[in-house]
Amino acid sequence: MNIVLIGFRGTGKTTIGKKLAARLGWEFADSDDLIEERGKRSIREIFEKEGEPYFRKVEKETIAELAKRDSLVIAAGGGAVLDADNVRNLKQNGKLVLLTADAGTIHRRISGAKRSKLQRPALTSLDERPEIEHLLAKRKPYYESAADLIVESDSNSVSKVVEEILGYVRRLGKG
Ligand code: S3P
Repeated sequence: MNIVLIGFRGTGKTTIGKKLAARLGWEFADSDDLIEERGKRSIREIFEKEGEPYFRKVEKETIAELAKRDSLVIAAGGGAVLDADNVRNLKQNGKLVLLTADAGTIHRRISGAKRSKLQRPALTSLDERPEIEHLLAKRKPYYESAADLIVESDSNSVSKVVEEILGYVRRLGKG
């Protein structure tokens, strides 16, 4: 079984995913990192040079490949579960855990992160905060319907979120 962390940028998928994988003794994989490594350029450059449809195609291939592995904690890019094929592939051998945070927290986290400015492409023509609000509202139904478990990452510390997911994995008899 795999655990797949889904949710918007800035909800802690990478930070929590790495800690969770260490606790489980599983490997960690971030779909965006793999795409960047293989494409030898940042996601932002891929968006700029090849366009979003090309990125989504590579993302789909990467996710299909990761979904076939086992005992893996996967951090999926924030837009990945908007695609039904990605959800289906990830669910074949995985449980999807949605990390949530409100727009204010997300804005604070991503505007403070260096990686964000340099590597994350703008997803709309809106300013940062309205973009977050707009996309969160639009994506909420996709995130929630894909999720097997929802964990709030706003007020919970990283270790509390990790413990909650660990408890869930153990209840499934996999941890
Ligand atoms: C995206 C989120 C990013 C990355 C790409 C598109 C999105 O991933 O996949 O920039 O559509 O929300 P993170 O959620 O890991 O930042």
